[in-house]
Amino acid sequence: MTTSLLDAEGAQTVLAWLAESRAFDLRDFALHAAHRGIEARMRELGCAHVDEYLSHLARDTSEAAALVAAVAVPLSTFFRDGPVFHAIDAKVLPELLMRLSIGGTLRAWSAGTATGEEAWSIAMQMAEQCGSFAEYEVMATDRDEPSLAVAARGMYPGRQLEAVSSARRARWLRDEGDHACIVDELRARVSFERHDLIGATLAPPSAIIASYHLILCRNVLIYFDRRMQRKVLERLAASLEPRGALILGPSEWVSPADCPALEPFPGLDPSLRVFRRR
Ligand SMILES: C[S@@+](CC[C@H](N)C(=O)[O-])C[C@H]1O[C@@H](n2cnc3c(N)ncnc32)[C@H](O)[C@@H]1O
Repeated sequence: MTTSLLDAEGAQTVLAWLAESRAFDLRDFALHAAHRGIEARMRELGCAHVDEYLSHLARDTSEAAALVAAVAVPLSTFFRDGPVFHAIDAKVLPELLMRLSIGGTLRAWSAGTATGEEAWSIAMQMAEQCGSFAEYEVMATDRDEPSLAVAARGMYPGRQLEAVSSARRARWLRDEGDHACIVDELRARVSFERHDLIGATLAPPSAIIASYHLILCRNVLIYFDRRMQRKVLERLAASLEPRGALILGPSEWVSPADCPALEPFPGLDPSLRVFRRR
């Protein structure tokens, strides 16, 4: 049996470092997985004590990325973090739609969409809320081509659809053996493009800057250091319509100093990480 290299206090110290240096705060949840991830990094580097590991983190700038990869959950799921999607349905989309004229187009961008579950989830909600009142379109981007290929295929094994209600499953997915496929009606509204959020361009060439009503960039900022996070936040804020909403992951935080163009979305619990452009 392997002995533990890390006690709860040591794990909290490393997580406090991550919260400070990356605005990635896991201290309130996922503690067990985070503990395992930190310990895996310590073993890999041969660190016998947490202080040794913290010195390594301070010395080696590439270690933060390795630590994030070890503690973050890389897989996406439909309607990931249910309360956030509930708030989108109950508050965010209705408010955005109130400002749209009849026949207008509601636009969303799923940035760092991975294998597409987030983009399809928001497309389902937008389709339901727009009804015959408005058009809608979703642009979904990621820098990882293989993930985008899975996303664009729109075909998922049944076990990955647990968070999709039976009503949504009947309306937006078609069963094909042990898989389910996104229906054509939704496919026609979602486009997938490669784009690097820290690359040369603010957004993909097809994007209409300053026109997005809603941007989801969830569980992506954790991969960047604070300087890069601010740059990406500025880019995303610039892509939003005034009063458009930006949604981050539950362990990601942005303070007014990080991006003065953003403010918390009024009337929502701050833990949902929903912001809006001033
Ligand atoms: C943990 S997944 C998040 C997926 C989804 N947003 C969710 O919350 O379920 C992180 C995604 O960010 C993408 N990513 C990381 N750095 C990126 C960058 N510089 N530009 C665009 N995407 C990036 C990764 O390829 C990965 O697909």
